[in-house]
Amino acid sequence: MGVEEVPFVLLEGVVVRGDGRGRELGFPTANVEVPAGTSLPADGIYAGWLERSDGKRHLAAISIGTRPTYYGAHGELLVEAFVLDFEDDLYGERVRVGVGGRVRGQVRFEGEDELVAQMALDADAVRRLGRPG
Ligand SMILES: Cc1cc2nc3c(=O)[nH]c(=O)nc-3n(C[C@H](O)[C@H](O)[C@H](O)COP(=O)(O)O)c2cc1C
Repeated sequence: MGVEEVPFVLLEGVVVRGDGRGRELGFPTANVEVPAGTSLPADGIYAGWLERSDGKRHLAAISIGTRPTYYGAHGELLVEAFVLDFEDDLYGERVRVGVGGRVRGQVRFEGEDELVAQMALDADAVRRLGRPG
């Protein structure tokens, strides 16, 4: 999977609880609540990093979108980061998210298995690319 070069965007916000579905899927995500009025990159999946309050940056596959697989066109617009090789709890933490190369657009999958298979490919693409920014 190719990764398209796009302008780098830096986001900042607090990690809030999502639906908890990500953990069930094997891809737990940090839902980052960005302040109202924040300009977001176009919906899609991106390679980037999540920076914790201790300043350490961790490679992440970032999803910006409305989770069309579950909510059709009417989902809430979310910034979610799947942080690679990471187990810690991030709830309540203020983090920065560096949004780098674009991996693909959001897709409405027919089933959860397809979504999970694609997320694994996304994570591979991010890992291969290494850390932007
Ligand atoms: C790498 C990655 C790729 C994703 N791609 C899609 C996608 O193409 N379509 C979609 O509907 N949701 C996509 N999502 C969002 C997932 O649907 C979402 O993370 C999952 O439902 C868990 O949501 P929760 O945080 O509310 O539990 C993606 C998430 C990640 C981390």
